[in-house]
Amino acid sequence: MLVLGGTASNGIDIGLSRVLGYDLEKIETSKFPDGEIKVRIPEIKEGKVVIVQSTHYPQEKNLFELLLTADAIKGSNVEITAVIPYLAYARQNRSFYPGEGISISTVMSLLKAVGIKSLVTVNPHRSGPLMNFGGKIEVIRAERRLAQHLMGVFTRPMVLAPDSGGVELARSAAEVLGCEFTYLDKNRDAYGNVSIKEAHGGDFAGKDIIIFDDIISSGGTIELAARHAYSKGAASVSAAGVHLIMVDGAAERLKNAGVQRIFGTNTVPYEKAETVDVSEDIAEGIRRMERDIS
Ligand code: R5P
Repeated sequence: MLVLGGTASNGIDIGLSRVLGYDLEKIETSKFPDGEIKVRIPEIKEGKVVIVQSTHYPQEKNLFELLLTADAIKGSNVEITAVIPYLAYARQNRSFYPGEGISISTVMSLLKAVGIKSLVTVNPHRSGPLMNFGGKIEVIRAERRLAQHLMGVFTRPMVLAPDSGGVELARSAAEVLGCEFTYLDKNRDAYGNVSIKEAHGGDFAGKDIIIFDDIISSGGTIELAARHAYSKGAASVSAAGVHLIMVDGAAERLKNAGVQRIFGTNTVPYEKAETVDVSEDIAEGIRRMERDIS
């Protein structure tokens, strides 16, 4: 049993090897003068290999490193599991406009083509479209661990989901925190601008609002929800995102909207937030998968 850590494993490879008791090796990468990458792996003849590689920015490079690694192993008598803590391209899960490619479907086909038999990922944008992968999939929900980290941090917490797609995530975080939750319905236009379609109540007055979301990318969604919370009398607003993509300008946007603290996980590296390690949850997912297979 071997854990192979990619350049975007964010310490989760180390965590998994410790928790599962597997050996750990690092994938060696180098670049050709034109920028193309190559990978080098240790000699693996048989057994199980868990490749750990998140596919956050630079997405194509990180994804390609994973594909090259799996392809280099493929063919030997080895069973490959890919741990992809942040799964890129999952947001384009259908054709929003005629002619658009469905990127998550392409990614799933590529993973399959390089011999990956099982996949473990954390809070993918939508789990339905992952199913055309064909192999075994374990989806880890990290919001409970994130919420556990926040226990006792706030005096009067209330969880807010910034859109209806996040209701289950927020409900489960609120359950851990033992507090109320409410949610908003949002609209996103063709240019990516968001607006509130409907607010679903909740007593915000004097509360410490924690906006829980799967992804914080441009920060537009959190900004909108934070402004709404303050307009209803919130005492403070913080943001908890499983995947802190935080593109340029997002931190500023959150700050300007009065977001006081940002929490996240190590599926994506983001130094300016308080993050929790999801290695144990992923290890538990791998164990579950092994139990189901045997
Ligand atoms: C959307 O459905 C997701 O759950 C997030 O709310 C969204 O990806 C956040 O993106 P942004 O930070 O760019 O508003």
